[in-house]
Amino acid sequence: MDFENRVVLVTGGGAGLGEACALEFAAQGARVAVADWSAESAERVASRINDNGGEAIALAIDVSRADQVDEMVNRILSPWGRLDVAVNNAGVSAPIKPLAETEEDDYERLMGVNLKGVWLCMRAELRQMLKQGGGNIVNMASALSKRVFPGASFYVASKFAVAGMTRTAALEYAEQGIRINAVCPGNVRTPLLESTTDAQTQQILAGLHAMKRMGTPEEVAQAVLWLASGRASFCTGNLMSVDGGWTAG
Ligand SMILES: NC(=O)c1ccc[n+]([C@@H]2O[C@H](COP(=O)([O-])OP(=O)(O)OC[C@H]3O[C@@H](n4cnc5c(N)ncnc54)[C@H](O)[C@@H]3O)[C@@H](O)[C@H]2O)c1
Repeated sequence: MDFENRVVLVTGGGAGLGEACALEFAAQGARVAVADWSAESAERVASRINDNGGEAIALAIDVSRADQVDEMVNRILSPWGRLDVAVNNAGVSAPIKPLAETEEDDYERLMGVNLKGVWLCMRAELRQMLKQGGGNIVNMASALSKRVFPGASFYVASKFAVAGMTRTAALEYAEQGIRINAVCPGNVRTPLLESTTDAQTQQILAGLHAMKRMGTPEEVAQAVLWLASGRASFCTGNLMSVDGGWTAG
């Protein structure tokens, strides 16, 4: 998978799945914009890439803010002039509770990042990709775009919605040289998963997969890179499962 000199944006690139994607794109020769609301995390990942002889910039932005998302694309164009691949990965979780006990603040925060954030990013990315005559978008959906999980009502709702938005936009732009797909990971050990679950819950989450283990961020990154590469040239509107067989049954 050759991404030599390709310009790649990864949102939420400062940790977890986004970090693994940013590092792997850089390893394949891409110029990588690491966007994260944690400036420190974005800087850390961008520095790691630059220190290893790659080319990366760190962008401290909140994907739920339209002004910051538009600015993010401008700050990529100013050094590099184009945007070839966008990975809309930034996402958050909320406390696990039955729906009647959930809080409006948690709902607003989660939907703002997981759904509105993906919409805002896709809108800004598509406007640029249309101008330059093509591009490639990979959204980070979830196995919970295909299965439900009691206690995660609005997380599940946000990921079902990302799946629907991915497929709809894929049809809207298929004739304009823009492919749009999503990856649907199962449970992967990342800061997000580790901060919201204890060891016993993690064992249960691993057991949901037919392979009876968690995935790794690198396994998810491989699927993202494949979808963004020329090898997936006839793929658009896919929701690719990377979940150890969880949703196969
Ligand atoms: N870890 C899993 O098991 C798993 C499974 C399926 C899907 N996902 C999805 O993968 C994505 C990444 O998850 P992760 O586990 O790597 O999470 P993580 O918390 O480890 O990393 C997410 C990164 O996104 C950043 N971020 C959060 N909100 C942001 C915002 N508003 N603007 C910019 N950056 C923001 C965080 O600072 C962090 O660096 C999410 O969309 C998540 O829903 C994760």
